[in-house]
Amino acid sequence: MESPELGVGSLKDALFILESGEVYRNPTEVKMSQIVLPCHANHCGELSVGQLLKWMDSTACLSAERHAGCSCITASVDDIHFEHTIGVGQVVSIIAKVNRAFTSSMEVGILVTCEDLYIGKEWKVCHAFASFVARRTETGKVQLKQVIPHTQLEQVEYSLAAERRRMRLIHVETITDLLSNCAAQLAGECQEHKDAIPAEKTRVESVELVLPPHANHQVSTFGGQIMAWMENVATIAASRLCNAHPTLRSIDMFHFRGPSHIGDRLVLKAIVNNSFKTSMEVGVCAEAYKGGEPLRHINSAFMTFEVLDGDRKPCMLPRIRPEPVDGKRRYQEALARKKIRLDRKYIITSKQTQVPLSVPWDQSNQMYLSLNNVSALKIMVAKTNWVLTSEKNKVSLYTLEENQVLCFKVEMKVNIPADQTFHLLSDLRKRMEWDRHYEKCEVVLQADEEDTIYRVASPSITKGGKGQDFIMLASRRQPCDARDPYLIAVRSVTLPTHPPTDDYTRGEVLCAGFCIWEESSSVTKITYYNQASPGVLPYISRDIVGLSSSYYCIFSACSDFLKANKTCLGAPPPPPAAP
Ligand code: COA
Ligand code: ADP
Repeated sequence: MESPELGVGSLKDALFILESGEVYRNPTEVKMSQIVLPCHANHCGELSVGQLLKWMDSTACLSAERHAGCSCITASVDDIHFEHTIGVGQVVSIIAKVNRAFTSSMEVGILVTCEDLYIGKEWKVCHAFASFVARRTETGKVQLKQVIPHTQLEQVEYSLAAERRRMRLIHVETITDLLSNCAAQLAGECQEHKDAIPAEKTRVESVELVLPPHANHQVSTFGGQIMAWMENVATIAASRLCNAHPTLRSIDMFHFRGPSHIGDRLVLKAIVNNSFKTSMEVGVCAEAYKGGEPLRHINSAFMTFEVLDGDRKPCMLPRIRPEPVDGKRRYQEALARKKIRLDRKYIITSKQTQVPLSVPWDQSNQMYLSLNNVSALKIMVAKTNWVLTSEKNKVSLYTLEENQVLCFKVEMKVNIPADQTFHLLSDLRKRMEWDRHYEKCEVVLQADEEDTIYRVASPSITKGGKGQDFIMLASRRQPCDARDPYLIAVRSVTLPTHPPTDDYTRGEVLCAGFCIWEESSSVTKITYYNQASPGVLPYISRDIVGLSSSYYCIFSACSDFLKANKTCLGAPPPPPAAP
């Protein structure tokens, strides 16, 4: 069995967590197992992704309804990457559980695995995060009960769910902004290829009548059914380009904009927007109407297909000749989406340890780097096996060694309100006032209200040696609700405008930052975390082995700085600086 990535592992582990000697099972967990029959498969004997999406949606909906205690609808599904196809005769298992409830919406984590009964092997097919909303009642919006995480992995998922939600809710604006920026850069980027296939040849239009089996007991069309119909037309469009059997690799995040009901006619339109060397983007639009009413936009999705040869390697694909105006726009937007998709896949879904120390920052990956930055810190915050290494006047230094990675944290309490502490620690330039490792600190770029890139210079630890400098992205987060802390996450990035110089050794910070908990209206717990990269270790190694307590001097200076600025009014974020 492949080890599931963080974020999904909790789903598999949930059954086996022992708490006070008992087997713990998450109360929202729902499992479905299906043997793949020919009626679920396409002509190549592989489970149709549409059928899989229906099963995923029903399992996740049952989990959401178990938590909500009322009927729920699918609001959105984040990016899904399919790692394997599933054959007839194999068993598909789906596990879903609610990671977090907000007001009326919930994030449900879904893990799909496949099992070959004859060879006794099981592997991961995909994971997904879907958002479900409790249906409004006559009295208005439903207020859901909180999810209480019980295990460390549930705690991580709970914490990350808030971060993913933030990205989800601004997804449309983020993509629109990025597309308009990229479109300007790509204007005219529409090469004429000699043997290009006219996009028109791939166009599909199909209608479905929503019947009772397609809907739940509330007469609303199942989200999974709509996704299945969309996948069906997308597959036809993709097949028309390659004249072969296409394999669906990924579906971009999408949102069900409005409901559909029994009796609706669902009009599904698809076309290949662009084809790259070995993959193509198919766009699908689903609209509904009833009688003479105008069309309602239900959903638009973008799917990436490949064609695999006998060795399961992707084949070269024909190029596409877009139609004028809309076709050309979609062709360029598909190019931009390809870049965004790569950033998202690389930065969001890779395991933390696989993201390189310094990731190049640019406007199109800003959102994802920020999410990665905060998520990495949240994962460190959720770890429980810290060892107390040193303590002085209630300032404690802890370490944690795991998979050959050393992390440390310093914890203390201050009599300053949490929001003021957050405000004072948020601007890294103020750290020069209390941390002697911050010799210089300047704002290099103000990406948005919550994300700032700084250049920090630190003195050398050896006499006459070179100092180190760091280009760091600081991402700030206010609590999503009372159960969340304030966070200031820091990680290294690279910027072409700020290459390493001869005067300094370029240091790197993998994951660091502050977690600020409100203990009462006047008492705040501050924890500083750092995953000790080679650039950081020399500054703390003597403290860790007990030869020094410089951490104490720095953090008591921090405490003094906070006290001295206790009443300092909230200042606006640092001014924008040219890149
Ligand atoms: N992804 C995840 N959650 C979303 C979302 C998205 N893209 N857009 C809105 N939501 C959440 C909101 O954050 C809010 O959650 P909260 O109460 O926990 O804060 C919740 O949906 C309701 O938001 P609200 O502002 O009250 O309503 P809305 O006008 O934004 O409508 C839906 C949101 C999902 C209810 C609405 O778009 C809808 O009915 N879509 C169709 C859903 C459906 O029928 N699906 C089945 C297949 S058709
Ligand atoms: P956009 O046109 O901005 O891409 P839409 O939501 O209108 O966004 O459509 C989503 C996708 O659905 C399009 O990118 C296209 O691939 C496909 N599509 C939309 N309209 C049609 C149509 N009339 N025929 C075929 N495919 C269509």
